Amino acid sequence: MCGIVGYIGEQNCVPVLINGLKSLEYRGYDSAGVAVLSGDTIGIRKTKGKVDNLSNLLLNEPISGKAGIGHTRWATHGAPSDMNAHPHFSNDDKIAVVHNGIIENYQELKAELEKKGYVFQSETDTETIAHLIDDYYKQGHDILESVRKTLERIEGSYALGVLCTDYPDQLIAARKESPLIVGLGKGENFIASDIPAILNYTKKAYILDDKELALVKADSVSLYDIDGNEIKKEVYTYKWDVEAAQKSGYDHFMLKEIYEQPKVVRDNLAQRFSEDGKSIELDGIKLGRAELENINLIYIVACGTAYYAGLVGKYLLERMVGIPVNADVASEFRYKEPLIDEHTLVIVISQSGETADTHSALKLAKSKGSRVLGIVNAVGSSIARDADDVLYTLAGFEIAVASTKAFSAQVVAMYLITLHIAMELGRIDNDTFEEIKQAMDLLPKQINDILTKAVPKIRRFVNKYIGSKNVFYIGRGLDYVVCMEGSLKLKEIAYLHSEPYAAGELKHGPIALIEEATLVVGIVTQEALFDKTKSNIKEVKARGAKVLAIAMQGNRSIEEVADDVIYIPRTHWMLTSLLANIPQQLFAYYMALELGEDIDKPRNLAKSVTVE
Ligand code: G6P
Repeated sequence: MCGIVGYIGEQNCVPVLINGLKSLEYRGYDSAGVAVLSGDTIGIRKTKGKVDNLSNLLLNEPISGKAGIGHTRWATHGAPSDMNAHPHFSNDDKIAVVHNGIIENYQELKAELEKKGYVFQSETDTETIAHLIDDYYKQGHDILESVRKTLERIEGSYALGVLCTDYPDQLIAARKESPLIVGLGKGENFIASDIPAILNYTKKAYILDDKELALVKADSVSLYDIDGNEIKKEVYTYKWDVEAAQKSGYDHFMLKEIYEQPKVVRDNLAQRFSEDGKSIELDGIKLGRAELENINLIYIVACGTAYYAGLVGKYLLERMVGIPVNADVASEFRYKEPLIDEHTLVIVISQSGETADTHSALKLAKSKGSRVLGIVNAVGSSIARDADDVLYTLAGFEIAVASTKAFSAQVVAMYLITLHIAMELGRIDNDTFEEIKQAMDLLPKQINDILTKAVPKIRRFVNKYIGSKNVFYIGRGLDYVVCMEGSLKLKEIAYLHSEPYAAGELKHGPIALIEEATLVVGIVTQEALFDKTKSNIKEVKARGAKVLAIAMQGNRSIEEVADDVIYIPRTHWMLTSLLANIPQQLFAYYMALELGEDIDKPRNLAKSVTVE
C-alpha cells in the first residue's frame, strides 16, 4: 500500500520520480505527488488520481531539481483528495515527507502538536511526522537526529522519505514494517519501496531492515540503527532486468503475466528435482524425515489469492500425507489464539512477502515455537527474511494487481511440498512419485495448449454473456478451491458480483438465486466427483442458468448439461487446479476488457497490502 521513491544526483529528478511512481502504482493509485528541492525551496505538486494526473499537472506547473521524493497513495487515513495526497510538509514548507504505513498513535501526537501551534492541513496520519520532525528540528537538532527522534515517538509502520531545504545535498530514509530499499548509482542514489521503481538506473541496493535509517547523498549512503549508531550492510544485486517490468507488447501486465505461466512453471520444476529425478530438493530447506516426524499439524496461512493456493495445498497434504492441515486467512489467524506449538509446521504464502497480516501471522507462529516455512516470490522481502525456511516461487515480477502467474507458482510449490513430505514419510511409493513427476513435466506445455486453444472460445462466451450481473462458480474438492480463485479474479477486475460455492451446498441456499440466464461456471476436473458435480450443473440448468464448464479432455458427457465447455488436457488428479484455473484467468480478463475496466489497476485495490 502506497509506493515511495526518491532521487538525489545530477539529473533533474522529476522524470526519475515519475517513472518510479508509475512502476509503483501497483501499490496504490488514489493520488500521487512529488516534492522537489530547487535552490532553497521545496516545490510540491500533488493531485488526486493516478500518476498520469500528476504528470499532466507537472506539464502545466513544471518544477525541476536534483533531489526529490515522490509518492503514490492507497488511502487509509483521509479520503483520496489533493490535500491528503503526499508529500506532506511542515508549516514553514522547509520539510517534506512521503510515507508508506500507518502511524497508530497519530491522534495523540496530533493533539500534542496542535497545542504547540502546528496547523494541520490534511486528514492524514503522515502529516504528524512532518510536524514532529519540524518540532525536533526547531529544538536545535540536525535533520537526521530530528527524524531519528521522531521515529522513537511514532508507533506503527513506516517507510519514509524526508527532504529539508537546509540540507539540499541529502535525503533521509527510514523503515519499519513497510519495505524500503536504497538504490546505489554512480554519482546518484535512490530510495524506493520496490526495485522496479529504479531498475532503469541500478540493480544494486541496500535492503533496509526494521528501524534502520539511511542518509542518502549523491555520492554516499550512510546507514544507522534507531539509536543513531552507524551500521554496515551488504549490497544486494537484483537479477531481474528492465524488460521484466515492462508490458513487452501486451495490452496489459495481466495478460503478459498469464502468458508467462508456462515459463514460470517450467522454471519452478527445473530447479526442484534431484539430478536423478527421484526426489525433490527445496532450496536446501531442511524438512527431512526427522523434522517431519515431529510435526503433527500443518497450518497454512495467507491472504487473497495466496490463500487459495494454500487451500490447494491443504487438500493435497491431507489426502496424500495424512497429516491434519488447517488453513486460515492471516487476518483471522493472527487474532484467534491458534492452537499451534513446536509440533506444528506453519506454511505462510505470499507473493509480495510484505502483506502485513501474513507477516504478523508468521511472527505469532514463531512466538509459539512453530517452524515457519515461507513460500514467497519477492526475494529479500520481510516474510522471506523472517521465515525459518523459504521456498522462492520464481515467478519474477508480478505487476498486475490481480495475481495470475504468482498463483500458479504457489500452486506448484504446494505440489512440490506435498510430494516431498509424502516421500520423506513414506506415504507414497516410487512408482506413484514417478507417475506424478511425469505428469508435472507436461504442465508447461499443457498450459501453453490451453492458452492457444481456449482464447477464441472464451471470448465468444464473454460476448454472449457480457450483460450478466451475477456469476456463480461451482465445484467440489480441489475444483471448489479453483472456483474460489476464479470468483475472486472476476470480482477484482471485472467488478462483477460472483460467488464460489461447493456444488453440494447449492441446495442449502444459493440455488434460490439462480434464475433465467444466471451465469454459472462449473469446474468438473475431479474424475471421482464428476457425476456429482454434473448433477449439480443439471440442477442449475433446470432453473434457467447458462453454464460454462471447465472439464478434463475425454469427459464429453458434460456437454449434455453445459452450454459451453473448455477442456483442459488430461493430467493426474492432484494437478488439475493449475490447469483449470488458466481458462478462468482468461475469462476474468476478457470480461473486464469487454466492460472497459482498468485491468491492471482495479479500483480500491492494491497489490501489496502492507496495512492490516
Ligand atoms: C492483495 C493482492 C492479491 C494478493 C493478496 C495477498 O489483495 O491484490 O493479488 O493475492 O494481496 O498478497 P501476497 O503478496 O501476500 O501474496
